[in-house]
Parts: sequence; C-alpha cells; structure tokens
Amino acid sequence: MLSCGMSIDGYLDSATVKRLPLSNDADFDRVDAVRATCDAILVGAATVRNDNPSLLVRSKARQRERVARGLRPSPSKVTLTRRAKLDPASAFFASGDVEKLVYCTRPNLTQAKQKLGSVATVVDGGEDVDVHALSHDLHARGVSRLMVEGGGTVHTQFLTADLVDELQLVVAPFFVGDSQARRFVSDGLFPWNPQRRATLAEVRQIGDVVLLRYALSGRFGE
Ligand SMILES: NC(=O)c1ccc[n+]([C@@H]2O[C@H](COP(=O)([O-])OP(=O)(O)OC[C@H]3O[C@@H](n4cnc5c(N)ncnc54)[C@H](OP(=O)(O)O)[C@@H]3O)[C@@H](O)[C@H]2O)c1
Repeated sequence: MLSCGMSIDGYLDSATVKRLPLSNDADFDRVDAVRATCDAILVGAATVRNDNPSLLVRSKARQRERVARGLRPSPSKVTLTRRAKLDPASAFFASGDVEKLVYCTRPNLTQAKQKLGSVATVVDGGEDVDVHALSHDLHARGVSRLMVEGGGTVHTQFLTADLVDELQLVVAPFFVGDSQARRFVSDGLFPWNPQRRATLAEVRQIGDVVLLRYALSGRFGE
C-alpha cells in the first residue's frame, strides 16, 4: 500500500529544509489508523534524514488494539540506502520498541553495520536494492502488509515495479510551484498510462484535503 500527500501541483515537499505539512489533523489521524493495520512501514533514507519521522502509531487505543492481537504497538520500520549516511540517534531508530530494518547496498554494508548494527537489523541489499527482492525478503520476515510512505524516489520504484496494490493519494489545497522541490514520482515507465487506466476506487473529502484511493492490482481490498 502506497500512501502519499501532495500539493495540487504534485509536490511532496517544499525545496527548503523545513518539512512541509501537506495534510490536516483529520487526515493525519486517518493515516495513523492505516499505519495500525500494517506489518511494516517503509521510507527512503532521504526521508529519514530530512523529515526525521518516528513512523509510530500515535493513538494509544490503536496501540492497545495491536497489542491485544499479539503485535507490537507499532509496525516495523524499514528503510533503504546506498550511502549509509543515517544517524542512529534519529527518530527512525531511537523511537519505538519495534523492529527496524535497513537494506543497504553492498559497497557501504560494512559501514552501515558498524554505524547502525546496534539500533537496527542491517540487511545486505546487493549491488542495488531491488524492491521486488526487498518485498520478498520482508515477506519471509513476516510482513504481509507493507505501507510505503515515500519519498518520491521510493514511490517511483515501487510503482514502476508494479508492486503496489493500493495507492492512497491525498491532495492538499495549495501549490508549491518550485521545480527544485521533490515531486510525487520522478520519470519512469509506469504500468498505468493512457492505454491502461488505473481504477479509481474511492474519493473522500477530509476537511480541506481530498483522498483518492486507486486499486492498482487484483489484491486491492484484501
Ligand atoms: N508528502 C509526503 O507524503 C511525503 C512522504 C515522505 C517523504 N516526503 C518528502 O520526500 C522527500 C524525499 O524524497 P526523495 O525522493 O528525495 O527521497 P526518498 O525516496 O525518501 O529516499 C531516497 C534515498 O533512499 C535510498 N534509496 C532509494 N532507492 C534505493 C535503492 N534502490 N537502493 C538503495 N538505496 C536506495 C537512497 O539513500 P542514500 O542517499 O542514503 O543512499 C536515496 O537517496 C523529502 O523532502 C520528504 O519530505 C513527503
């Protein structure tokens, strides 16, 4: 499941260092509810560095429901990196009693293990992390439902690999208007095009934002 908020003109963020909130409180709470249904949440290393997200389920009631089902209060956290320039003190690693996985490409694997081995499981990602292989590996580790939360580089790889069953796209009511900012996706060969249109499954207004849910595979809704 791929979840993303973007501006009217398709940007994920501004070009400045400060994180740009795109959604509103009601939608952040909706995302929290979706997170609680997942086994793992994945973001790219740039998002870990730029946004410093904790990626935890915030609602205590949802945490309790997960624990009652025999799960950790929040899903596992997953990231991928080539350069291994990740801070072990960042919220991704420091927050939450949940499993943290780092898929790192081989050239910097040793460095990643030295730096992050005490706060995460560092996995050999091969020459370049292939999102198909990563998904298989996560499945073998017990992850059936993965939530991909950005950024654009990661969205592009999961979508072009045709691995996404559901896309939840939230459109915020403003423009960013700066091509230096990161877009929802970058260039690529996407399985949905003018000849093969995606299926729009739901449109929901949530205050001043709109949620668009697309069914991108036969597994949508399972
Ligand atoms: N609006 C939203 O819903 C939302 C959600 C999330 C993020 N964002 C925004 O998105 C921006 C970041 O997006 P982004 O596209 O620049 O970065 P990203 O997708 O978060 O991360 C890209 C990084 O992930 C690693 N990576 C990606 N593919 C890899 C592969 N195949 N193998 C190994 N490592 C790989 C690399 O890390 P290394 O550089 O460490 O090698 C790469 O630089 C931020 O500004 C953030 O605020 C917005």
